[in-house]
Amino acid sequence: MVANTIKFLLNNELVNIENLDPNTTVLQYLREEKFKSGTKEGCASGDCGACTVVLAELDPEKAGQLTYKSINSCITFVGNLHGKQLITVEDLKDGAKLHHAQQTIVDNHGSQCGFCTPGFVMSSFALHKQNNKPNRAEVLEALAGNLCRCTGYRSIIEAAMTSSEGNQDDSFAKHYQQTLVTLTELEKLPTPTLNGNGNTYIAPQNLDELATELTNEPKSTLVAGGTDLALSVTQNLAVVKKLVYVGNVAELTTIEETESEIVIGSALPYSDFIDTLHHYYPDLGDMIERIGAKQVRNTGTLGGNVGNASPIGDMPPALIALGATMTLHLKGTERTILVEEFFLDYKKTVLQTSEFIKSITIPKPIAGQTLKLYKISKRLDDDISAVLAAFFIEQDGQKITNVRLAFGGMAGIPKRGSAAEAALLGKDFTKESVAQAKAALTADFQPMTDVRASDKYRMTVAQNLIEKCYLELQSIQTREVIETRVVNY
Ligand SMILES: Cc1cc2nc3c(=O)[nH]c(=O)nc-3n(C[C@H](O)[C@H](O)[C@H](O)COP(=O)(O)OP(=O)(O)OC[C@H]3O[C@@H](n4cnc5c(N)ncnc54)[C@H](O)[C@@H]3O)c2cc1C
Ligand code: FES
Ligand code: FES
Repeated sequence: MVANTIKFLLNNELVNIENLDPNTTVLQYLREEKFKSGTKEGCASGDCGACTVVLAELDPEKAGQLTYKSINSCITFVGNLHGKQLITVEDLKDGAKLHHAQQTIVDNHGSQCGFCTPGFVMSSFALHKQNNKPNRAEVLEALAGNLCRCTGYRSIIEAAMTSSEGNQDDSFAKHYQQTLVTLTELEKLPTPTLNGNGNTYIAPQNLDELATELTNEPKSTLVAGGTDLALSVTQNLAVVKKLVYVGNVAELTTIEETESEIVIGSALPYSDFIDTLHHYYPDLGDMIERIGAKQVRNTGTLGGNVGNASPIGDMPPALIALGATMTLHLKGTERTILVEEFFLDYKKTVLQTSEFIKSITIPKPIAGQTLKLYKISKRLDDDISAVLAAFFIEQDGQKITNVRLAFGGMAGIPKRGSAAEAALLGKDFTKESVAQAKAALTADFQPMTDVRASDKYRMTVAQNLIEKCYLELQSIQTREVIETRVVNY
């Protein structure tokens, strides 16, 4: 059964949307339909954070609790609001009293022209809702997706550092129980759809429904977080005829661990699996923290990153280096392939019509294996890679017994450097074998020049990263030997 409506809480008011073009973003909806112009449009591409709003959702891990996430409203389709609470800057204050996230900006002189301020306030609000005593690193992480061109960041950071108190008694805390009840009721509603302007949005609730939808309408476009797809609408003015949202499909939004593997649902946002991956592969966790900013990681997914098949997506090289596999689903049947087999050519994949990515399986590390990841971009936070290098190395003593060197940004697809790998496999990891691998890399890749880097830069940096990996592993091993000697002494 489907319902031709999207229902959600706009702040504390239950709202229905019918007859609206599903290509509408949350930002357009707020400003043009609800005349709530507190949420600003800076870039319309997820880069500046001026449009930040907060979504509260039922916490799937903890019954009876809500999670609060900052998102970029400019690249979120309005249909994705169904079943959630959308919190905007206008409604933070309680009566005439400013919310602490706002008052501390005033107290710390954190605003000049004010254009960025609502976005900073909302990022700070989301942080403090989740974490009552954030440290400086957590504040910086929460604000990294918000840009300010005039105030300077010190006072804004100071404001966010001091805005802890007062979250317990804001208007959202007062309505907490009622919000839980309403969102729980919304969860039970039939599959939501939205039709407008001849375009359609549907949010299937389980795997069968999704598979049937895609079989019946093979020209549909899947959307998860929309952090890639929405740009085609906001930047290229594309119109998507039929959007199928995967974020409500229970089977795609889980993370499971077996003794040897981690299985991540394709529609699970980064924020919900980063800690698990960080635990097993610290380099991978650190790298994911550099995918976009908090707002992007709160909605962006692994399925979207891989499904987008961009040569500069950060996860595919990492997954290829790890020997990860992916489960693809088509009309009730499933197949499992290596992630590296997924990419055929620039933006071309093995996905058949109506087929979709169900999950990605990452092997857990075992002794002797190392994963090193290097993201080369102009900025540390919220920037796209010029080159992403992912090296998986298995050693028996010095001897390399297994190696996968995968790169993004070096070719039309993410791929392994097989000649460079051959120069290392079976050899000791030494300066000499590294020099051979660096030389061999020129047979593997002929990178291109674009706005992010020249072909020469890309090749040189990729070669040097192999050497960097060698030097880092040497220094770890040397340190371990010294520490063992000290202990033995
Ligand atoms: C400001 C900003 C910064 C960014 N920074 C980075 C970065 O540093 N590194 C990086 O790698 N990316 C970055 N991105 C790109 C993007 O955030 C990621 O690729 C993200 O993982 C996409 O996930 P999504 O859920 O938003 O995908 P969506 O936009 O929803 O979908 C992307 C594509 O995948 C398809 N798709 C979605 N789910 C599935 C599925 N289950 N099966 C098959 N196909 C599917 C969609 O049809 C679409 O074609 C950035 C984006 C923005 C806006
Ligand atoms: S308007 Fe810049 S991130 Fe949305
Ligand atoms: S106060 Fe002007 S952009 Fe931040």
